[in-house]
Amino acid sequence: MADPIVTLAPRFEAALRQAFGEEHAKADPALRRGAHADLQADVALGLAKKLQKKPREVADAIVAVLDVKGIVDKVEVAGPGFINLSLSNEWLSAQLAEAAADPRLSVPTTSSPETVVVDYSGPNVAKEMHVGHIRSTVIGDTLVRTLEFLGHTVIRQNHLGDWGTPFGMLIEHLIDLGQDKSETVTVKDLDAFYKEARTKFDADPAFADRARKRVVSLQAGDADTLVLWKRLVDESKRYFGEVYEKLGVTLTEKDFCAESHYNPLLAGVVTELEGKGLVTESDGALCAFPAGFKTKEGEPLPLIVRKQDGGYGYATTDLTAIRERIQTRKATRILYVVGTPQQQHLQMVFAVARDAGWLVPPARAEHVNFGSILGPDKKMFKTRAGGTVKLIDLLDEATSRASAIIKEKDSDLDDATRDVVARQVGIGAIKYADLSSDRVKDYVFDWSRMLAFDGNTAPYVQYAHARSQNIFRKEGIDSAMKGAAIVVREPAEHALAMELLNFGATARSVADTLQPHRMCTYLYGVASAFTTFYEKCPVLKAEDEATKTSRLALASLAGRVLARGLDLLGIEAPQRM
Ligand code: ARG
Repeated sequence: MADPIVTLAPRFEAALRQAFGEEHAKADPALRRGAHADLQADVALGLAKKLQKKPREVADAIVAVLDVKGIVDKVEVAGPGFINLSLSNEWLSAQLAEAAADPRLSVPTTSSPETVVVDYSGPNVAKEMHVGHIRSTVIGDTLVRTLEFLGHTVIRQNHLGDWGTPFGMLIEHLIDLGQDKSETVTVKDLDAFYKEARTKFDADPAFADRARKRVVSLQAGDADTLVLWKRLVDESKRYFGEVYEKLGVTLTEKDFCAESHYNPLLAGVVTELEGKGLVTESDGALCAFPAGFKTKEGEPLPLIVRKQDGGYGYATTDLTAIRERIQTRKATRILYVVGTPQQQHLQMVFAVARDAGWLVPPARAEHVNFGSILGPDKKMFKTRAGGTVKLIDLLDEATSRASAIIKEKDSDLDDATRDVVARQVGIGAIKYADLSSDRVKDYVFDWSRMLAFDGNTAPYVQYAHARSQNIFRKEGIDSAMKGAAIVVREPAEHALAMELLNFGATARSVADTLQPHRMCTYLYGVASAFTTFYEKCPVLKAEDEATKTSRLALASLAGRVLARGLDLLGIEAPQRM
């Protein structure tokens, strides 16, 4: 399934060469989807200035020599000098046939595969996962799926927060309560437990001091401390695994690479930084001062690599992690799917890693930041009582809301099937609402909008897919439609074909720009075009057998593109709903 823009580019180059000579042959044809035709080329407008000619004249000169036989049916110069192109139905039919025959839907794997580390989710031990974690988890998982689909080697890294000052206070609090209490600890208790420990830490300097010392003995590998610590870590990991399964993300146990994993390497990293002259002592702590980072007062901003008490913190762990990711794991691209508030921390880590000679081309690191989820009042999303909304509660509520909606739509579904579909639609709606909004912006969490069956939502796209499958189920036909010819004829077929052709380009643009909403916008377009096709072009009641077969094959292909696209977003495509 060739991308028409890619296919036409060399044709324009040849025409430009012929019309205006070698020096203008490489001018960008500026081809894009058009409002009045399939495609529009704006090259004449830019070129006219350079040639000091009228844009329309330039456009006419290009069109006079443009050879697009077999691809384009109609070429027209419009407005000030746009070149409008309508693709031929024969060419579109041939592209669809190729895609239909290919399990990858004609999306090639990349010619420059990379090893990409994607650092995402990263919840903290002994803390409930809240809605803020959903964004990192859902965005990260989409990037992972898309990069893998395009042929990259992806290393998932769940940088679990299992170390640092909070652990000191949690363990001290556990000790205050009597150690045996720890055996009955569950995560639900731990959330309250965390808050109690935090309150003590903030209010009681002696407790805070004990907590800090406890961190040091944890770092020194004190056996008693480790037993308590491990109990908390294991319980949390088990719980996070449950959430991931419910959410349908591809993170598993083997992707946990917790902060503690780096402990044996921290001292060596600090020694290396010292050897390279990148750290200096400041108030008893060892700090790096990467160029360009300043405090509010304009003083150099420190990145603490070793604290006053000899302990190591979040920054040292991240420095060690980036070194390992590049040197041991051989990653050339590292994506940090982490909220915007950690921007400065990560940029400082990247800067020190560059200074240390670890983060050097071809290796590069990108902070894939994201905005917050807001409540209907446009403030931070909270429960009615003002508490943080737990992710797991949200997932359950989504499923039960979806179940009620589906009950109204398709009463034929038996209870067991409806439960499955409700989960697919409910979880899909939450994920899609997150992915379809501009990543770096905040968005408002709105149940009725995300579960609506019209608009740019998961249920709308899922419903279009289910409709495509309906045709086959009703007739008892194999939906694969192997080898059946697709003949594009009607305008609605033509429009659907135009959408389907863009799948590969969309996946590539998600991987390049790290903006999952591009895939959502794309799928919304395919679903809309499919819905129009479904309403305008009778399939089972088509005028003749060949047309029926062709439309079945087109429906089958559209269904496959919708399902595969949803899968790249980590969203399931129910057969019916
Ligand atoms: N645990 C951290 C938090 O909740 C997120 C970890 C992000 N990854 C990283 N390499 N720092 O804020």
